[in-house]
Amino acid sequence: MLFKRFLSTSLKKKIPGFVFDIDGVLVQGSRPIPAAVNALKFLNKNKIPFVFLTNSGGLLEKEKSSQILTKLGIQNEIPEVKTVLSHTPLRAFNKQYKTVLSVGPIGSSRVLKEYGFERVFEASDLIGKYKGIAPFNMVSQRKEPYVSQNGEIPEEGLKFDAIMVLSDPRDWSSDLQIVSDLLVSDNGKLGTVNLDKEEKTIPIFWSQRDFQWKTEYSLPRFALGAFRELVYKLVSIVKQPDLVTLPDFKENNSKEDLLEDKLHEFKILSKIDETVLGKPEAVSYSFAKKELEKDFVEKHGQDSDLEIGEIFMVGDNPLSDIIGAHRYGWNTCLVKTGVYSEGYKLPVTPTMIVENVEEAVNKSCELVK
Ligand code: G3P
Ligand code: MG
Repeated sequence: MLFKRFLSTSLKKKIPGFVFDIDGVLVQGSRPIPAAVNALKFLNKNKIPFVFLTNSGGLLEKEKSSQILTKLGIQNEIPEVKTVLSHTPLRAFNKQYKTVLSVGPIGSSRVLKEYGFERVFEASDLIGKYKGIAPFNMVSQRKEPYVSQNGEIPEEGLKFDAIMVLSDPRDWSSDLQIVSDLLVSDNGKLGTVNLDKEEKTIPIFWSQRDFQWKTEYSLPRFALGAFRELVYKLVSIVKQPDLVTLPDFKENNSKEDLLEDKLHEFKILSKIDETVLGKPEAVSYSFAKKELEKDFVEKHGQDSDLEIGEIFMVGDNPLSDIIGAHRYGWNTCLVKTGVYSEGYKLPVTPTMIVENVEEAVNKSCELVK
């Protein structure tokens, strides 16, 4: 029986599966990459399974798919592509944490509410309630009065169970202040400070940690990982104020002093209860693989005599898309339309380096013929 099943599986004809990064592969900011249109149309026409796997977020999976297909002008032809966002795995924590701070664009709290979290606030909700909490915020610059994005109104003594960073903050100054506040607070209670260096912080979930990403601008831009660096620097300084001076500018600083500062910083940071998701973490690829299998079944049915063989990740960021897919055992196609450019020091050798996504698809299909 087992042998028969093994035989029938191994005799199946294999077709490739594709996992596409979005920014720098399909689009550059608001600008579509024309090669993506041809690549996706080709795969769709030939019933080759594919999904999107992006480190961007702040909106729902279906909304992201629709946003990209609209940008590419092909939503009539391809109504939806299964999409895994950096924060897709957070849904699993909706019972564990009751009150959470959502960090990202205004309205990102709606995503966590949709994921089933009970109480979700964003920085703007707190700015409306606690005067002066983030003095240089952008919310109060707006003409219209601020309205809570999901109906939650903060009360006095609000206590958070976790921080969930969904996407790049738009109002860095406010988010830096409020996220740092909660990481040095007494067990998540807003307006309190706990300077005990031995105590763990409340959990913080980073949906990803890309340091840079590619827009339509000529150079890569700072991404969420850059924000993470800043938050941690600030938290370590708040907990150990004499770390504030840049070591190089300290008078008569010895190597020992510098080393001691680093050790203090390390000790403080080791107490941050963080979880990092997104590429290059394996969790992202396992979610994408499940979606790819679902797409295969939708295209070919349960009892097909075909099956997915080689999987190709098409990405522009060697430190996220490529290294993660490589570790996960997939083929990797590094494109030149995003973060990567000639001279970049590669952490692993990709299966291929190509001009764009269309070339990646063509070469990969040739490879498995
Ligand atoms: O890190 C920024 C984010 O927008 C990158 O998205 O699609 O390149 O994973 P993506
Ligand atoms: Mg990218």
